Amino acid sequence: ATQDYDLARDPTSDATTGLRQGLTSYGDAHFSLFLRKVFIKALGYSEDALSRPIVGIVNTYSSFNPCHANVPQLIEAVKRGVQLQGGLAIDFPTISIHESFSSPTSMFLRNLMSMDTEEMIKAQPIDAVITIGGCDKTVPAQLMGAISANKPCLPLVTGPMMPGSHRGKRIGACTDCRNNWATYRAGDIDMEEIADVNEELAPTAGTCGVMGTASTMACLLVGLGLMAPQGATAPAVSAARLRIAEKTGANAVAAISAQRRPQSILSRESFLNAITVLQAIGGSTNAVVHLMAIINRHPEVAGTVNLEDYNLIGARTPLLVDLKPSGDNYMTDFHNAGGMLALLHTLRPLLYLNAKTVTGQTMGEMLDTTPFRSFPGSADIIRPLSNPLASSSSLVVLQGNLCPGGAVIKASASKNKKLLRHQGPAVVFENSEDLAQRIDSADLDVSHDSVLVLQNIGPVGNPGMPEAGMIPIPRKLKGITDMLRLSDGRMSGTAGGTIVLHISPEAALDESPLGIVRNGDVITLDVEARKLNVNVSAEEMARRWKERKVKPTTTKGRSKAKRGYRALYEQRVNQAEHGADFDFLTAAGADTRA
Ligand code: FES
Ligand code: MG
Repeated sequence: ATQDYDLARDPTSDATTGLRQGLTSYGDAHFSLFLRKVFIKALGYSEDALSRPIVGIVNTYSSFNPCHANVPQLIEAVKRGVQLQGGLAIDFPTISIHESFSSPTSMFLRNLMSMDTEEMIKAQPIDAVITIGGCDKTVPAQLMGAISANKPCLPLVTGPMMPGSHRGKRIGACTDCRNNWATYRAGDIDMEEIADVNEELAPTAGTCGVMGTASTMACLLVGLGLMAPQGATAPAVSAARLRIAEKTGANAVAAISAQRRPQSILSRESFLNAITVLQAIGGSTNAVVHLMAIINRHPEVAGTVNLEDYNLIGARTPLLVDLKPSGDNYMTDFHNAGGMLALLHTLRPLLYLNAKTVTGQTMGEMLDTTPFRSFPGSADIIRPLSNPLASSSSLVVLQGNLCPGGAVIKASASKNKKLLRHQGPAVVFENSEDLAQRIDSADLDVSHDSVLVLQNIGPVGNPGMPEAGMIPIPRKLKGITDMLRLSDGRMSGTAGGTIVLHISPEAALDESPLGIVRNGDVITLDVEARKLNVNVSAEEMARRWKERKVKPTTTKGRSKAKRGYRALYEQRVNQAEHGADFDFLTAAGADTRA
């Protein structure tokens, strides 16, 4: 009789770990293992190495992705950490998405990346995974995929870039990209100077150095308990970043023996902690969409945290971190002032201390064993609860007959706080092209009281929900710096203004109130009351919907694309309040599609 091939030979391993997991490909488990070893040995691994628990490392390096330029060094440091603890580290690629090199939008590709990540984690014989990412859509995509795959997972971010320097002033992507471009457009700096600025806005590898979406998502990973506090803020080019990577590798081996998986670590409380962090840092509006997508991947948490929780938490959470665009400083300042450790200690009375973390400690135990002592200057960047930048609610969720599925506004970024309670007539643009054609025209019927409405930039209407929500002020209103603006799209985490985003259901869907708003309809925003309404009766809405169905324009309704990923996207993406994920990827399956 033939002997079983090797399955029982190594007393330290069982049939479900390392190279031995998922041996079903050829019917015969022994032959499957035999073949796997044939091929992996072509890479030079020994029997000893192959008997170890395997930690996969997701490699999102790409020469099109400067935010991930340090990934090769991070992988080397992670491997050292894994191997010092007796594991075997094996890196593998997934797609890489950078904000500036992802047409039509990076958000369009986020769900694709989450599928790539989930399926590669599931497919390969790894016992745990370290997802290395950083640029805006990468951390959400990886976390969505990792929760669904549910193998022990430790996220590691690439870290923020350093600020640059222009004629004695610090500058950094991308809040200062916008400021400086506006100054150039206004004729206040010349071509030579803007070219100098261009050289310094992103002076090193790493993610944007302000509290944009990338930094926000890195801070949320700490709030969720998935990453150590220092991990969010240490610069991409620092030695500290490499030591964090080494430690992450070591922690992955421990997470395997304890079988700590994302679905067992993350609870409703973990997400409420993350939302508390989001409000305290004045984080990106995009994080609301990403967090909902992440929540909806978790079978036990999905449905227990919704948009209303952002308001409940916002009402008791002050804005504490003084970073651009809500404040004045850069991520390196936040790091040097104590970073997320200092912030979590400050937020302690508002946190759920029983929430678990990836090391096995609870949030409370982590804070108890990692004290933070403030020092002169640290409280300028990370304010105490007694001296906040704003007393509450940097991000507010709105309800009303214009947004039955909700809408989001970053109240802390409003430039004219009077507009937070405002009533005015709508000036409607049907889509981005219509806006581009008419916004600066001399005969646009608009005043500073008007409400600018942009339709059809939602998840379906303009696949990927572009960051076009910061509608420019019409040129004829010279001197006006802020107006109430509404859309079903998103806005860059580094931008500001009185801007309502993510209106749901989006204009492109049949029964969308936003889709049938017309010029002159009176719109009322009341941020304190959390309301967004339009003075159109339910009967009139129904009449307009019917009329629109009879004469559909090219931009209305689902599915314009006939083939490929775009067709899949348009048919299966759900609305912003569910995370703009694909309905079939959520824990509930197809229930989330509008
Ligand atoms: Fe990658 Fe800003 S472009 S984080
Ligand atoms: Mg961004």
